[in-house]
Amino acid sequence: MCGIICYVGKQPALPVLLEGLKRLEYRGYDSSGIALLEDEQIRRFRAVGKIRELETGLIEWTSDAKTGIGHTRWATHGKPCVENAHPHSDCAGEIFVIHNGIIENYLALKQELITAGHRFLSETDTEVVAHLIEEACREHADLEEAVTRALARVRGTFGLAVLSTRHANSIIIARRSSPMILGISDSGTFAASDVSALVAHTKQVVYLQDDDLAVLTPDGYRITNLHAPAEVNRQEQTVDWDVDAAEKQGFEHFMLKEIHEQPEAVRNAMRGRLVPSEGISVLGGLAGVREQFLRMEQLILVSCGTSFYAAMLGRYILEFCTDFRVEVDVASEFRYRRLNLRDNTVVLAISQSGETADTLAAIREAKRKGALVLGLVNVVGSNIARETDAGIYNHAGPEIGVASTKAFVSQLTILYLLTLYLARHQHMSVTDGQEFIRELESIPDKIEQILAKSAQIQQVARRYAQFRDFMYIGRKFNYPIALEGALKLKEISYLHAEAYAAGEMKHGPIALINPDFPSVCLATQDSTYDKMMANIQEIKARCGRTIVVGTEGDAQLPALCDDFIGVPASSELFAPLLTVIPLQLLAYYIALENGCEIDQPRNLAKSVTVE
Ligand code: F6R
Repeated sequence: MCGIICYVGKQPALPVLLEGLKRLEYRGYDSSGIALLEDEQIRRFRAVGKIRELETGLIEWTSDAKTGIGHTRWATHGKPCVENAHPHSDCAGEIFVIHNGIIENYLALKQELITAGHRFLSETDTEVVAHLIEEACREHADLEEAVTRALARVRGTFGLAVLSTRHANSIIIARRSSPMILGISDSGTFAASDVSALVAHTKQVVYLQDDDLAVLTPDGYRITNLHAPAEVNRQEQTVDWDVDAAEKQGFEHFMLKEIHEQPEAVRNAMRGRLVPSEGISVLGGLAGVREQFLRMEQLILVSCGTSFYAAMLGRYILEFCTDFRVEVDVASEFRYRRLNLRDNTVVLAISQSGETADTLAAIREAKRKGALVLGLVNVVGSNIARETDAGIYNHAGPEIGVASTKAFVSQLTILYLLTLYLARHQHMSVTDGQEFIRELESIPDKIEQILAKSAQIQQVARRYAQFRDFMYIGRKFNYPIALEGALKLKEISYLHAEAYAAGEMKHGPIALINPDFPSVCLATQDSTYDKMMANIQEIKARCGRTIVVGTEGDAQLPALCDDFIGVPASSELFAPLLTVIPLQLLAYYIALENGCEIDQPRNLAKSVTVE
């Protein structure tokens, strides 16, 4: 995820910026850059790769500049390269911008600015902001006013900083749905997207709120609102975290932080991709292959691990809502099959990292056989992103915990968008499309309601942490979630967990049930509810313990099972986006109880680049 650090004060800015950028490294990034304002001139330096590449490039630089901005970029629009790294500037090289977030309407704005004579040097959405400010400066000499006018044209999210030769000894900051924090100290004023970049310098901070605009000077700051010029007061707060904790923003582990980032991951996956009035989704990354995609006779989803379980759910929802033939395959097995692909086969590779060797091998094989190969990838510019014909990015931000959580939920969200995209091309009506969007858009708030029950789930985890074996069962849309829940437990707590389609229980696994072998059952109120209820009865009849994830307000299950965790009601199609959350938390808290190394479990790697 991109990171921002800014400083205006009495000390040389360069070391402050470099130190701040290093503090932001944990967020994941692929390039970085700084800009310094000195003697009414701005100097910029950018580099691809680690901060040490930036430092190496800066070795010859001497600078007494006391005002500067720095950025780590995690590519979303355009590959990781120097031209796409921030800061971006206007045509005259007088206005430099760093930005976190996504400018949704950047293509339309870019076209308009090009027509007005602006020259663009990058593929990013951010560069549009620098040119918009330049354009606004033509009418409003005051930079602050120009920034306000420019941001009024922007749709999307931003946490940004503007450095300009027009505004000596100051930096302008603004935010909308992307965090920005000011840091106050005797040696100057700071701003960052993340407290971890500030705490080495100061613990006095101000959290900006949406649509705040702040002007930083060496002696302090002034905050106004993008919609009203009157000054606003924001309370100064004292951070009581150390640097290490700040990186995790107060969470004990990255995994827990990422579990809590899931409402945002869903929102980011949907952002700019839904048109509620028409009940459709717009997937810009597929525009170039749209006709071929819609003509497909067969869709094969390939992936590994958690991404494979996303694919499994993808098949259920695509089959439920469209007439396309959909298959799924574990990427590592795909190439062993005697593949007899139909004409017009599309293979969709799903991968958080975009580097998984098995998935890469599968897409190479699919290409060899003439399939159109698409990617659903989180890491921009990764191998899978580059080797596929077209694709969709998650925009979930980097996932640092080895056990995948927010990337999974983001993958599911995009598979829903893809389903809507295809279904509306077939028989789904406008009103059904609108209802689909309403359901999807209600998910982030519902996830937040489940996260608010973390303490209850932790209590359940405490009661089960001493067991060594677990069974996970679910049916239909909840079956892949049972598999994913069991995988989470295995990965981070090293406990034995089996997952089955609940109907399979009676065909063998029920033999395992005894009081020391608890079952986690997914039993939301849906078309499989009665059958799940029967499974739970069968387990109880064999003295098995049951943890049930069901629908809040269920009148029967809490009395029948040992522990009940409720999720908000939703239609069964969307329930998996909710039922997975308690399973992630259950796995996390059981691992925590057992003192396991949660973010880096033994034997596992975040990116599996060997076959
Ligand atoms: C599980 C997990 C792995 C990955 C798998 C595929 O928590 O993270 O199972 O899902 O290695 O990785 P990607 O999605 O990067 O291809």
